[in-house]
Amino acid sequence: MAELEVKDLAQAVIERMAECKDPRFKKVMTSLVKHVHSFVQEVQLTPDEWMGTIEFLTAAGQMCDEKRQEFILLSDTLGVSMAVVGIEQAKGAAAALKAKPTALKATEATVLGPFFWEGAPELALGADITGDSSGTPAYYHGRVTDTAGQPVAHCTLDVWSGDGDGFYDLQKGPDAPMALRARFHTDADGNYRFWSIKPAYYPVPDDGPVGGMLRRMGRHPNRPGHMHTMLSAPGYERLITHLFVSDSPFLDSDAVFGVRNSLIVDFEAHPAGTAPDGRVMSTSFHTAYYDFKLVPSA
Ligand code: BEZ
Ligand code: FE
Repeated sequence: MAELEVKDLAQAVIERMAECKDPRFKKVMTSLVKHVHSFVQEVQLTPDEWMGTIEFLTAAGQMCDEKRQEFILLSDTLGVSMAVVGIEQAKGAAAALKAKPTALKATEATVLGPFFWEGAPELALGADITGDSSGTPAYYHGRVTDTAGQPVAHCTLDVWSGDGDGFYDLQKGPDAPMALRARFHTDADGNYRFWSIKPAYYPVPDDGPVGGMLRRMGRHPNRPGHMHTMLSAPGYERLITHLFVSDSPFLDSDAVFGVRNSLIVDFEAHPAGTAPDGRVMSTSFHTAYYDFKLVPSA
């Protein structure tokens, strides 16, 4: 029978995958087809709305280049990126607990974001990466251990943030050099320390189709101030996370839903004077202390 009722279309598409050789792909596509058809039915999608969606996705694709990924931004602002991060994190936590029931809670992960730049300079512990960027100086320090509490020596800690006005180096034109980013390695006891700035809140790039979507949804585009970190060490799962500034606006309404309470850090304010590493500061500064806990690789 060639003719199909609208109500039977989803099942017909699924049946056409009978020869699919990849079970995971088949499972994902079966569910996707079911959900898309049920969404179309639920909202009684009109031809104009469907065409509007296709134009939106086309515009999102046309906006993408090496430095701009509008589809990731779409995923981030719809909460999908954090859903995927959460699923992966829960798997890691369950495996760590199974291997060692007394395991400590691993540091929570969050979104990567579009401003990671591979190959940041490798600097000695304690270095200042502020350069001539705007922002109040902040001293970051703490320790990296595993979920058994053992130090993770020589762990690579990639850090990056926007400046005191909320702008990343990647947003400052095609020739702008790297700024406010570096790679550090923990010492034998898992300690890390570096100087940067206290990051400010800022909007996600909202000059494209996703920005239009946010406005139409009645949403703001802002993220609370945060320092991005990526930790990698042989024998451990890579951790991509942030340290969020505890007194930043938008902690309760991050445009990409990335905030986890366990990642909110007090940036203690200090007047000019001697910092914890002995550096004498002629201006006021902040200190931020955070210990990371990594999950051993499966
Ligand atoms: C960021 O943290 O830089 C970011 C994350 C997701 C989307 C846009 C920006
Ligand atoms: Fe960011």
